[in-house]
Amino acid sequence: MRRNIVHIGAGELSYEIRQIAEVAGRIQKLSGEPIRWENIGDPVQKGERIPDWIKAIIAEAVQEDSTYAYSPTRGLLGTREFLAERCNRRGGAQITPDDIIFFNGLGDAVNKVYYMLRREARVIGPSPAYPTHSSAEAAHAGYAPITYRLDPANNWMPDLDELRNKVRYNDSIAGILIINPDNPTGAVFPRDVILEMIAIAREFDLFIVADEIYMNMVFDEAEHAPISQVIGDVPAISLKGISKEIPWPGARCGWMEVYNQGSHRIFQTYIKSILDAKMLEVCSTTLPQTVIPRILGHERYPAWQRSRNEFFQKRARRAAEIFAQCPGVIVNPPSGAFYLSVVFTQDLKSEMRLEIANPDVREYVSSLRPNVTRDDQRFVYDLLGSRNICVVPLSSFVTELQGFRCTLLERDDQRFDEIYLGIADAIREFLGAPALA
Ligand SMILES: Cc1ncc(COP(=O)(O)O)c(C=O)c1O
Repeated sequence: MRRNIVHIGAGELSYEIRQIAEVAGRIQKLSGEPIRWENIGDPVQKGERIPDWIKAIIAEAVQEDSTYAYSPTRGLLGTREFLAERCNRRGGAQITPDDIIFFNGLGDAVNKVYYMLRREARVIGPSPAYPTHSSAEAAHAGYAPITYRLDPANNWMPDLDELRNKVRYNDSIAGILIINPDNPTGAVFPRDVILEMIAIAREFDLFIVADEIYMNMVFDEAEHAPISQVIGDVPAISLKGISKEIPWPGARCGWMEVYNQGSHRIFQTYIKSILDAKMLEVCSTTLPQTVIPRILGHERYPAWQRSRNEFFQKRARRAAEIFAQCPGVIVNPPSGAFYLSVVFTQDLKSEMRLEIANPDVREYVSSLRPNVTRDDQRFVYDLLGSRNICVVPLSSFVTELQGFRCTLLERDDQRFDEIYLGIADAIREFLGAPALA
């Protein structure tokens, strides 16, 4: 080519949550056995049924011609009014419908947040981190992500001293990303932790990006503070959506709520640039926006949410109980969302292996090994090869930690136990611990 046409940040784009599915697909074919998918956070793909009353609302909306039309770039006014009112009712930051912008899923919002940032302005994010954020931020900057540590030995709480120091000594950091409840750890950060992070933002004149897509998926004993309630006067963006909550990931619908833009001129100009970028695309999906007030405002919605959270809490407890029998790992029972991350505390060695019975699968997995650079990736491939269970290596979530992420989504109790007992058995085999009787 006359010129190098590759973007400076192209090497930073990676999404192993889906890439691993290619390896799994090949193993499925070679083994002739189905894969137990534990890689993607899609409740519907994992068999969750959408209640009839929600389907009836959507079916009714499909009969309305207006749901086939473009919507305003910011999103349908009635829906933004509904969401602004819900936010204001919580107390704390008060917003108007103009402080809300809709996107084609939060993935779209996340990309715009970083794409429209000035190249040299960085957002520090958690480690481990959901890769859509870390990859998009790093690709925008053309450098590796800047992170603060979530500590597995302290129930995944953020290392606030590290955060403060990195912010203090790196003046390119302009924002702090908080994912709460968190993906991939399932941690819910208590109010005082969030307040401390906001205090750092205030002290160093930063803005906050709070990914709150799992905001209403908190188990009952967990203390959770929506960012709008505690933000005070600091400029912030909250990212919300319906992919996990209704759940309707295929709708590709999420939104941004902006707090305190009126009192921060540069922040306001930045938000306007995000809106302008969205305008070039015209708008986001209309049908899901139309039904959001009808579904979230429905009298049956609170009970629906409660029953889902109880289900995931039950799954979290059972998973923690099963993994408690594994030496050499740390597992913090999730307090929200529907993920669980397992961290190996025992050093992984290149000779550690799982027995793979099927010769074709064994040969295929062996053929992958020369290109495997991370030890937890080897565990994940061996787990696929030996037990047809697909999880995601933790090292693909921007962390030095070795481990893996799985989900709490499996609907069937017996299958859930089979999968989790199978993983626990694999951990023991890989680490050389005796099998459980
Ligand atoms: C923390 C977090 N943010 C954003 C997203 C993207 O969601 P959406 O389906 O709205 O693009 C996900 C999806 O898994 C997520 O876990």
